[in-house]
Amino acid sequence: MASRPDFSCQKHLFDIPEDVTYLNSAYMSPILKAGAVAGQQAVAGKMRPWQITVPDFFDQPARACTLMGQMIGAGAEDVAVIPSVSYGIAIAVRNLSLAPGQKIIVLADQFPSNVYPWQEMAKSHQAEVVTIPRPQDGDWTTGLCAAIDRDTAIVACPQVHWTDGSRVDLVRVGEVCRERGAALVLDLTQSLGVMPFSVQEVDPDFMIVATYKWLLGPYSYGFVYVAPRHQKGVPLEEGWIARKGSEDFARLVDYQPEYLPGAGRFNMGERSNFMMTPIAIHGLESLNNWGVKAIAGYLSGLTDIIAERARGMGLKVADKCHRAPHLIGLNFAGGAPEGLTAALAERQIYVSVRGDSIRVSCHVYNDLQDVDKLFSALEGIL
Ligand SMILES: Cc1ncc(COP(=O)(O)O)c(C=O)c1O
Repeated sequence: MASRPDFSCQKHLFDIPEDVTYLNSAYMSPILKAGAVAGQQAVAGKMRPWQITVPDFFDQPARACTLMGQMIGAGAEDVAVIPSVSYGIAIAVRNLSLAPGQKIIVLADQFPSNVYPWQEMAKSHQAEVVTIPRPQDGDWTTGLCAAIDRDTAIVACPQVHWTDGSRVDLVRVGEVCRERGAALVLDLTQSLGVMPFSVQEVDPDFMIVATYKWLLGPYSYGFVYVAPRHQKGVPLEEGWIARKGSEDFARLVDYQPEYLPGAGRFNMGERSNFMMTPIAIHGLESLNNWGVKAIAGYLSGLTDIIAERARGMGLKVADKCHRAPHLIGLNFAGGAPEGLTAALAERQIYVSVRGDSIRVSCHVYNDLQDVDKLFSALEGIL
């Protein structure tokens, strides 16, 4: 049974019509109704800028960073606001060293925002990008750990593969990186919020996340965690708000050589983002209040049933020990049938196709009825 005593479906908090089965949070999640109200109030606020005060520039982003820190076991001062994963990875590239002949390791078919920057960095340093091939059984961790050697400068990977939800054991990867002297850069866009993660356990150099998928947040809003050992590094921008004393608007031209403490220097320009920050805060508060562990437990109940029913139809899925609680690829040997997502969308069922698989992703607004609806439709179409 999918529901657990410590968590139940939260569909009532979202504006999802009864006849819509949305199983596509890996593409983009809806924001909560209350998050939308907070966002609408913020948009209306910009019609009355005389009501936007100096503390508004600082308090809301600080709250967002506190909530992100709570989620990952870090302090608010270790977290900065960024607009995208690409931006966060660029910070990591700027602050990690790479010698000629060294390696950067990525996974096969990894999301491009976490591949292109490494390819460019390798090119300009006469280094090499090594790609871990996709494992048949869904176990990325063994191949990844075996490939990390003393010549590895950087490992850049996710917690969950974006195409099919096969997972990486980041605690193990973190241990191996430390043992062999490699830096670890994580893009947790497809897992943070619905899968437990702690910087205390993994000790990454940088952790980057966009909020518009699993964090129930807005588009163009994300976070970077910067390990204390990199907090004296070089930011991408030299904006006024990342400098010490920036809250004293009357003295901004008393130019300040010092940055904000912690990860403060890595904040993007205009990080105060009055319209989006309240939505991001609402998503993070909700997830932290529900508890990521409880959410993961609930979603893995649904995903287990999806896996069982997919196998019953002859589709291939990763074994439970290698798959995420919330995201699963249902693999068609020889490719997904042409027009399948469109045929499902006609029935108000939304999933994605990635490679030879349909990617089904559950969030807190899904329940067993959604799973039933998906499989009744698949049985009818196939
Ligand atoms: C794993 C992963 N990382 C990052 C992104 C988005 O990257 P960016 O913020 O650079 O647009 C996506 C979007 O699908 C993704 O799946």
